[in-house]
Amino acid sequence: MTIDERANTDGNAIEDLMPPGTRVVDGRLVLGGRYASELADTFDTPALIIDEAALRARARRYADGLRSRWPNSRVVWASKSLPCTAIYRIMGAEGLGVDVAGGGELVMALAGGVDPARLVLHGNAKTDTELTMALEAGVGTIVIDNLDDVARLERLATREQGVLIRVIPDVETATHDAIATGHQNSKFGLSIPEARTLIDRLRGSARLRLDGLHAHIGSQILDVEPFARAVEAIATLGSFDVYDLGGGLGARYTYDDHPPSIEAYLDTLTDAARAFLPASARLLIEPGRSMIAETGVTIYRVVSVKRGASRTFVAVDGGMGDNLEVSLYGQRFEATMADRVGGGDDYTVVGRHCESGDQLIDSVPLVEPAVGDVLAVAVTGAYCLTMANNYNGALRPPIVLVKDGEARLALRRESYDDLLRRDA
Ligand code: LLP
Repeated sequence: MTIDERANTDGNAIEDLMPPGTRVVDGRLVLGGRYASELADTFDTPALIIDEAALRARARRYADGLRSRWPNSRVVWASKSLPCTAIYRIMGAEGLGVDVAGGGELVMALAGGVDPARLVLHGNAKTDTELTMALEAGVGTIVIDNLDDVARLERLATREQGVLIRVIPDVETATHDAIATGHQNSKFGLSIPEARTLIDRLRGSARLRLDGLHAHIGSQILDVEPFARAVEAIATLGSFDVYDLGGGLGARYTYDDHPPSIEAYLDTLTDAARAFLPASARLLIEPGRSMIAETGVTIYRVVSVKRGASRTFVAVDGGMGDNLEVSLYGQRFEATMADRVGGGDDYTVVGRHCESGDQLIDSVPLVEPAVGDVLAVAVTGAYCLTMANNYNGALRPPIVLVKDGEARLALRRESYDDLLRRDA
């Protein structure tokens, strides 16, 4: 087993949930060759630490894995999982395409030097402004979600534009309702009969070149079978040059999660493609969470340790300002004290925000947490910083990239000045 494959093992030590390459030295957590508690001293807390070597290895594992199974293909990173110019730059340099949802992600992707031809624009409510930005930038593929997209694009496009139609495959998935998208009545995409009508219509379009179909059935999916069913469903719409099969593979957040490996997921997609799609088709996939979640660790400092009626609260200097996964989707995370890794008594980790729902982890074993200590929460690379907010005037955290013992700031912490900067 290579070091890179370790993240999908079933190990029950906290390091097994940390980026591959993480070590424990004298009981201290070492991320990308740097002590986590020293990163806290240097960059302050809370901070999102991304292991750059682990991220690049995962990008290659995805790209090589897909290419070896289906040569006419591309991995298109779903950038909503961690939109930050430096991360766009890394993914672009690794040769990946990038999925952008709207103007903001498009701006960051372009700033990160991603080839516009490799961009895929998504959104169920793309405005004239956003579509104009995409057309002017030369975005390779625009995914049509609805008939208003078609009307807008036919009005705005001045030259030929490649498009895909997002199709609802009518596939149910066992994930949180808020992040399931493959079912009838989803707000994303068109039903199979609606897509069929649109396909006929687009064949006569002067500017919109219908390259193929797109389907994305949801996120944090821990079973491969629904992905195969989605391929089978969209195949009923006929033969196309391109099929974008979306993202959705789950990450391993807790010891009890056993997501399929990247390889098992790719086997499923390409086996289904061989069974149902034209052999000459180009396959795109859009992994977000499974690309980046396990490469990230958030470090906090303990601000208070307080005994409640039946549990002891460890309050840290972040919370739902930098991690909404818990309150929105009930996601469980695991954590450790950075300088006393593993074991300990059960504590409840809470944030600094003004509501009881601001709880990061309900009951997690920690060794003697004390004020000023650094706490590391695993698997926070995806969607945490994405949805960071200023609740209670919280400053959104920085992103620090670690690699081979070097640490560099990729995104600075917000400042109090930033909070005042938009005053009109
Ligand atoms: N493609 C499309 C069109 C998507 O909408 C998404 C995610 C992806 C790809 C990537 O899916 P992934 O591989 O990351 O599962 N805010 C939620 C996550 C919402 C996911 C939205 N779409 C969260 O924090 O969990």
